[in-house]
Amino acid sequence: MIEPREYARRRKQLMRMAGSDAIVIVAAAPERVRNNDAHYPYRQDSDFHYLTGFPEPDAVLALVPGRAAGEVILFCRERDPERERWDGPRAGTEGAVDTFGMDDAFPIDDIDDILPGLIEGRERVYYHFGRDVDFDLRLIAWVNRVRAQMRQGARPPHEFVALSHLLHDLRLYKSRGELRLMKKSAQIAAAAHVRAMQATRPGMNEHEIEAELLHVFRKHGAVPSYEPIVGGGANGCVLHYRANNAMLRDGDLLLIDAGAEYECYASDITRTFPVNGRYSPEQRALYDIVLDAQRAAIDEVRAGRPFDAYHDAAVRVITRGLIKLGLLSGPLEKNLREHAYRAFYMHKTGHWLGLDVHDAGDYRVDGEYRVLEPGMVVTVEPGLYIAPDAKGVPAKYRGIGIRIEDDVVVTDGEPLVISDGVPKDADEIEALMATVR
Ligand code: GLY
Ligand code: MN
Ligand code: MN
Repeated sequence: MIEPREYARRRKQLMRMAGSDAIVIVAAAPERVRNNDAHYPYRQDSDFHYLTGFPEPDAVLALVPGRAAGEVILFCRERDPERERWDGPRAGTEGAVDTFGMDDAFPIDDIDDILPGLIEGRERVYYHFGRDVDFDLRLIAWVNRVRAQMRQGARPPHEFVALSHLLHDLRLYKSRGELRLMKKSAQIAAAAHVRAMQATRPGMNEHEIEAELLHVFRKHGAVPSYEPIVGGGANGCVLHYRANNAMLRDGDLLLIDAGAEYECYASDITRTFPVNGRYSPEQRALYDIVLDAQRAAIDEVRAGRPFDAYHDAAVRVITRGLIKLGLLSGPLEKNLREHAYRAFYMHKTGHWLGLDVHDAGDYRVDGEYRVLEPGMVVTVEPGLYIAPDAKGVPAKYRGIGIRIEDDVVVTDGEPLVISDGVPKDADEIEALMATVR
């Protein structure tokens, strides 16, 4: 759990960055309808969660640095015994102050009357423009309310600034508390992958293996951090495969890309293993290229290295391996220059990881790749995807899709792999699959 004082520290830091003549406005995620009157499971907006830990919809945070009567103001739903009997308890304005550490809280229904007064006199508004069109229009209306009062001396803001530059820079550096949650999230996901490996048999359906993953997630109080990918055989070559409804065949590989979300923190793990428990020589040859690439890439996840260094390391090992296997021909450097590997490896080697699976934060600063620093967390996920109709490839390699993905913390020293609770060495996977749960 993240302590209330950590949320307070984040808000203070953001206010310091925004400046004493600014106001920061962040909205909670709206509830979303799935069909008719059924909703999607509610997930708080990551930025709103990062700054408040407040789990309810219909809430707006206003940070007003230096305001004597209180800098941190939350608009939220009022207590309502009748509604709470149906939907469960609400914090109410009192809980927002007492439990969540806000300086002050007002009913969300009063926001139109109160927020313009908080905007008045502020030079700059920091806000996520364009994320929620309905909320954009409300913000414009509040600003216009201030403008309409100008002849009475009201001072409307002059600058509207994207909030993401400040906030997403903060989110890049994970605190000790955040790393604790991310480790837990990765441990749960790793346990789910182990269970999936042990359950897999030829003749089962992909959705049965998905059920094994979900079982472990829910057992530990987690949910999937994205729709799990459970792709047998050539389905492993479909990068965003989501159908998860095909039969698993003897002799095929199974690619599982599944992560947990624990207290809003994501993990993101991929393993690729044989449905029958033994890699064929061709599968093993390709697998070991990806594994070597992944290990070389992880070794580049170090403070001081630019973000793209680990991708380059993976690409080099993959290209060398493909030449050795005869899937590419010609000198290594020429193949690298011409990006020849892209026929079989078409995505990047990783991304930031945190509250979002593809977490917030710029990858480049002033046009240059950002340098890794302690506290950043990335995925390392090279792959090889030999399409069933790949041209100029021996038939025995076609239809094989492999990815190996781990979650790695940048530290002062060695890269810290937090998803190592599930094996990735081919021999270790075969040994694990030979054991019965
Ligand atoms: N599961 C999404 C990704 O690997 O980036
Ligand atoms: Mn993934
Ligand atoms: Mn990923």
